[in-house]
Amino acid sequence: MARAERFLQACRGEQVDAPPVWLMRQAGRYLPEYQKVRARTDFLGLCKTPEWAAEVTLQPVDILGVDAAIIFSDILIPVEAMGMKLVFDDHGPGFPDPIRDEKAVDALTIPDPQDRTGFVLEAIRLTVKALGGRVPLIGFAGAPYTLLSYMVEGGSSRNFENTKRMMYTRPDLVHRALEKITETQLRYLRAQVAAGARAIQVFDSWGGHLAPDDFREFAAPYARRILDGMKDAGVPRIYFVLDGGTQLPEIQRCGADVVGLDWRTPLGWARSVLGERQAVQGNLDPCALLGSQDTLRRKVKGLLDDNAGRPGHVVNLGHGILPMTPPEHARAFVEMVHELGARP
Ligand code: CP3
Repeated sequence: MARAERFLQACRGEQVDAPPVWLMRQAGRYLPEYQKVRARTDFLGLCKTPEWAAEVTLQPVDILGVDAAIIFSDILIPVEAMGMKLVFDDHGPGFPDPIRDEKAVDALTIPDPQDRTGFVLEAIRLTVKALGGRVPLIGFAGAPYTLLSYMVEGGSSRNFENTKRMMYTRPDLVHRALEKITETQLRYLRAQVAAGARAIQVFDSWGGHLAPDDFREFAAPYARRILDGMKDAGVPRIYFVLDGGTQLPEIQRCGADVVGLDWRTPLGWARSVLGERQAVQGNLDPCALLGSQDTLRRKVKGLLDDNAGRPGHVVNLGHGILPMTPPEHARAFVEMVHELGARP
């Protein structure tokens, strides 16, 4: 009973028996069990086969004992559904035909979630059934600015020069693209909740690269529109901006129920900026899972002390788990959080 509820309770700022914990990218390459399923197909094939996507979504629930599952998919899946060719290779995701002009922006469509991403919704339904109420399932989407930067750069980037050039030369075009992306993500997230997701997370992985005025113009308003638009869906809404520490006041105004923090942001300080009404999620350095158990224990204790027993803390890493992480360290992390954070 406790395990089934503590994640949602913490998201709502309620007192819990022990802090809930899950790990961003918890279904992934560090798990041999994932590798085995992944060997059957390529990454997109795995995302698009609901039975297999459900299978790997469930793995960390059983293996690590986490308090929430997150549906196995990728933030770029609905971008493919908007009409862009998407490939995954050894270097990660790529769009071979990035959007760089008006014609490309106008060609983007706002897809119907069931028509174009029905496999994700089916994976959610299968996962929820298999979970049988053990823990809630989290749905997710990319934040509009982060998705836009992938679409304009064509992949990961160090300086985001194409995206920023477009922002500084054709802001009208950038806003037009962001509008379409926002509407797509909103429909996609609502469909995920209808299929059984009990919380949603919006990932703004590249938002932290923006100057404050650009974050205010190109990232925050669109994230806020998604979060506002999900309010009546009745599920906790988490907003995670990687390297967003210095934008915290702006992030707060986006109105999420839970603010995700990366490891560079002091948790206690973030709570004092955010106040009582927003819960926080995070924020152990993913590299802490590579060290000794003694160090890990000290780090977990430090993280819980930083929160000082306040309700509304979902424990997580400060970014995705790294592929070289020993699975037993991830399991030890989950156990330590439950043990050291238990209320007498
Ligand atoms: O958290 C989970 O377990 C759910 C699954 C999930 C994946 N991607 C699976 C994945 C989630 C929530 C994502 C989100 C995602 N995807 C983000 C936002 C979070 C973040 O990390 O900042 C981003 C930026 C992407 C785009 C993406 N997908 C990149 C840059 C890469 C390559 C780098 C990498 O870590 O491999 C991917 C591939 C990817 N997405 C893998 C997985 C398990 C590895 C693919 C494989 O199995 O070969």
